Amino acid sequence: MNPQAPAMPSRYSRITGTGSHLPPRRLSNADMAAMLAERGLETSDEWIVERTGIRARHFAAEGVNASDLALPAAQAALQAAGRTADDVDLIIVATSTPDMVFPSTACILQNRLGANGCAAFDLQAVCSGFVYALTVADSMIRAGTAKCALVVGAEVFSRILDFNDRTTCVLFGDGAGAVVLEASEEPGILATELHADGKHVGILCVPGTVSGGSVLGDPLLKMDGQAVFKLAVGVLDSAARAVLAKAGRTEADVDWLIPHQANIRIMQSTAKKLKLPPEKLVVTVDEHGNTSAASVPLALDAAVRSGRVQRGDTVLLEGVGGGFTWGAVLLDF
Ligand SMILES: CC(C)(COP(=O)(O)OP(=O)(O)OC[C@H]1O[C@@H](n2cnc3c(N)ncnc32)[C@H](O)[C@@H]1OP(=O)(O)O)[C@@H](O)C(=O)NCCC(=O)NCCS
Repeated sequence: MNPQAPAMPSRYSRITGTGSHLPPRRLSNADMAAMLAERGLETSDEWIVERTGIRARHFAAEGVNASDLALPAAQAALQAAGRTADDVDLIIVATSTPDMVFPSTACILQNRLGANGCAAFDLQAVCSGFVYALTVADSMIRAGTAKCALVVGAEVFSRILDFNDRTTCVLFGDGAGAVVLEASEEPGILATELHADGKHVGILCVPGTVSGGSVLGDPLLKMDGQAVFKLAVGVLDSAARAVLAKAGRTEADVDWLIPHQANIRIMQSTAKKLKLPPEKLVVTVDEHGNTSAASVPLALDAAVRSGRVQRGDTVLLEGVGGGFTWGAVLLDF
């Protein structure tokens, strides 16, 4: 049975559990170089590490979908929160690589969790997806329409990569991360900040779609890497400052910066501008690559499970990606 929404809105929402899952197949940069060589393309561990910080990524096996990765991540988050599927009254899955056109991956996940009856929907904001989804869940909890939300980022980006384009296919990976977000009298999420600028649609996109039983256009990822790089560096800084100002906090209050894991150079530049020492920056891009909407919850879970992020720590999450979209969430863990 699903719990009823509380009669009175809660002041805050708070993360009570985290979880994540990576598909077992790990490809090092050397594996990618060998794969590309078969297509007559050249890359190297040296090039990829120097430009991006990526050393490896995980790819899902054929037939493994976003919901297959989301399920163990969600189960781990529920277990960490001491909750069961029965307690969940809202499921949001941030994904750009859903199992099917419809129904949503969130509905598929709901059924597989046995959490039937609660609200469930997907949210599409590409690599900012998790930060967007967390903001929506926080708003719904504070409005009193939910009290125990499962917020998931799950991606199988390997399905939309063009393995004949070495400038993009070495950057991305598959995975899922999840949090349980619950109504709380104590913070919790302190402030959120979301933005989009649709005039940049073309710099990072998968332009294809399905129509009349066929794929219309190109269903593989296209990116102007340098344009994305420049925009990302600027907006991550402005979003961080805006969310801190909203919460009445400063850079000095931040214990952990967990930005979208796309490129170590972008992440380090963000930390430097905020005057945060490198040890406050959580880095998983080296082992995960860019897992789009899954990257922030994957990194958060890794930091929690390794004992770095502790209860009471102040954590700054940041997302940036296609749209162009960006945003930040400041929270006391
Ligand atoms: C993609 C990115 C790593 C490319 O790095 P860059 O320094 O801008 O590199 P360039 O695109 O200028 O390419 C430099 C050279 O490397 C080559 N190159 C590109 N990909 C390569 C690869 N995988 N292996 C080897 N060489 C490669 C290019 O062909 C180019 O060669 P040329 O000078 O002979 O023409 C970088 O632009 C980036 O990280 N952008 C942000 C991407 C991102 O974060 N996206 C996700 C946001 S959500």
